Amino acid sequence: MAPHSGQLKPATKAVHVESLVRRFATKTILDGVDLDIERGEFVALLGKSGSGKSTFLRALAGLDHEVEGTGTLDVPENLSVVFQDARLLPWRSVVQNVTLGLPGTSGQEAGRKALAEVGLQGRENAWPNQLSGGEQQRVALARSLVRDPALLLADEPFGALDALTRLKMHDLLRELCARHRPAVLLVTHDVDEAISLADRILVLDEGRFIEDLRIDLPTPRDHGDPRFAQIRSHLLSRLGVDVSGRKAA
Ligand SMILES: Nc1ncnc2c1ncn2[C@@H]1O[C@H](COP(=O)(O)OP(=O)(O)OP(=O)(O)O)[C@@H](O)[C@H]1O
Ligand SMILES: [Mg+2]
Repeated sequence: MAPHSGQLKPATKAVHVESLVRRFATKTILDGVDLDIERGEFVALLGKSGSGKSTFLRALAGLDHEVEGTGTLDVPENLSVVFQDARLLPWRSVVQNVTLGLPGTSGQEAGRKALAEVGLQGRENAWPNQLSGGEQQRVALARSLVRDPALLLADEPFGALDALTRLKMHDLLRELCARHRPAVLLVTHDVDEAISLADRILVLDEGRFIEDLRIDLPTPRDHGDPRFAQIRSHLLSRLGVDVSGRKAA
């Protein structure tokens, strides 16, 4: 059963989830999840591999019609999704990928502006295969932001990038979010990425959020700050990794 949109969420909320259950056959992946995300709030979602992070994101994105589920799921209509691979159409130019579905010349203009925002001015007419992985992911970000979404859902968007490109993408995402102020749910494996970017960090385990941590450090965040290290080791322990980096039993 698809979850139903229940009572209207208050105007300050971008997302309202209540008692969300998701099952694959007999396996319960989300076991009665509750979550509110404020408008403009940046939430990172951590969890072990297989804990259900993508399942949760797909539920919010309305992409899992075949999965058995119950509960209330209230999200804005105007949402965008970014995945680990840019998923560009190879037979369309970069700007056409960004403006797909947008009408006329105003769409074209918005597409060019979005590409300039992600640092790809001058590459509008390139083909996707002429871009690096990092550049393709910039196009995916431009495509998602060109519609000014109220909610941006991102599933390990930087997971396939090298460490340096990843850091540059963090700066870019932070800038773009400060300008456009969408609510964000960022799924990541990378604890430092989560602490660098998020206002709030969730940890999903055994179908529930076992952590909901507000990050009050000033931005841009200093990885050398002892509070950063403290949050990192706390989150790693919640993920079942001991402080010395070994997996707990
Ligand atoms: N279509 C499906 N049919 C059956 N089981 C599925 C399906 N999709 C996901 N699962 C199972 O649901 C569980 C959660 O998967 P999910 O992809 O949400 O995990 P994840 O937390 O995103 O993991 P990762 O960090 O590896 O991406 C896994 O055990 C997975 O095998
Ligand atoms: Mg996943």
